[in-house]
Amino acid sequence: MKVRVFSGVQPTGQLHIGNYLGALKNWAEIQAEYESIFCIVDLHAITLFQDPEELLANIRQTAALFIACGIDAQLSSIIVQSSVPAHTELAWLLNCVTPVGWLNRMTQFKSKAEQQETVGAGLLNYPVLMAADILLYQASIVPVGEDQSQHLELTRDIAQRFNSLYGEHFVMPATKLPTVGARIMGLDDPGQKMSKSAAGTNHAIGLLDEPKVVQKKIARATTDSLPAVDPENMGPGVANLIAIAEACDPSLNKEVFAGLRYGDLKKRVAEAVIARLEPIQQKFRAVTADRCYVDTVLSESRGRVMPIAEDTVRKTKVAMGLYV
Ligand code: TRP
Repeated sequence: MKVRVFSGVQPTGQLHIGNYLGALKNWAEIQAEYESIFCIVDLHAITLFQDPEELLANIRQTAALFIACGIDAQLSSIIVQSSVPAHTELAWLLNCVTPVGWLNRMTQFKSKAEQQETVGAGLLNYPVLMAADILLYQASIVPVGEDQSQHLELTRDIAQRFNSLYGEHFVMPATKLPTVGARIMGLDDPGQKMSKSAAGTNHAIGLLDEPKVVQKKIARATTDSLPAVDPENMGPGVANLIAIAEACDPSLNKEVFAGLRYGDLKKRVAEAVIARLEPIQQKFRAVTADRCYVDTVLSESRGRVMPIAEDTVRKTKVAMGLYV
């Protein structure tokens, strides 16, 4: 039996090159070796208010972009979290064994809560839902960024606590995949990982950005006060631009750019990004030309994972003495 991989992406805005170069590209490369489930976690997205129309459009766009980036729906399952009710059901069961103190300690909760006037209970329970996502499928590999490791640790703690209360039930989710993907930082702020939710229009390059937009964003990217690329002494902004270029085209390492003035470096980086995005955008247009195609893929995947998810929920309820 193939090892199961599970990962999730929130449908909150367009996927960007950081998502692609850091995660999706790698998922597409490994999907034949594993049984992969890639989940569009819309229930996580609504822990902060989302405009309903935009959310629904983003769910479909994210699914289409997964496919455009090379996720093959025959090899992997692409599912929408809310369309598989077992996620919500298992989350409730796990909520009942999770101490509130554990959740209060989560750094992501603390930083998100700080920015809200009223903090929804869902935001606090966010990591329990994430634990449910993973444990539902006994996923043993969960490729996520560094920012999610605390949530992964918590998943293990919740599983352990459940097992100690109700008997060996959950398989402990193992570790992340060794990081092979590039860690891409924001163009406007190379100290921060490129993120969908960052405010600046110059922060991220969307996978559907047109060539002109890509050029403009890269032209405005933060560099440093040196005149040209010095491979031995690069500021974080320049290092990030070169990391982007190299992730797009492995022949473009820092030596290739040595001595290049930043204006010229930016042109070369933009060319590499545009060339990399071109086939993705083409595939995206093909995939979305047929209005029903994405929905068909989502529904087929759902049919495939549903029996696994339902079986876990049923067994979990039985273990807890619930009436099934
Ligand atoms: N919290 C993750 C993020 O924001 C998304 C996520 C939800 C996830 N459920 C998951 C990732 C399960 C991996 C596995 O990046």
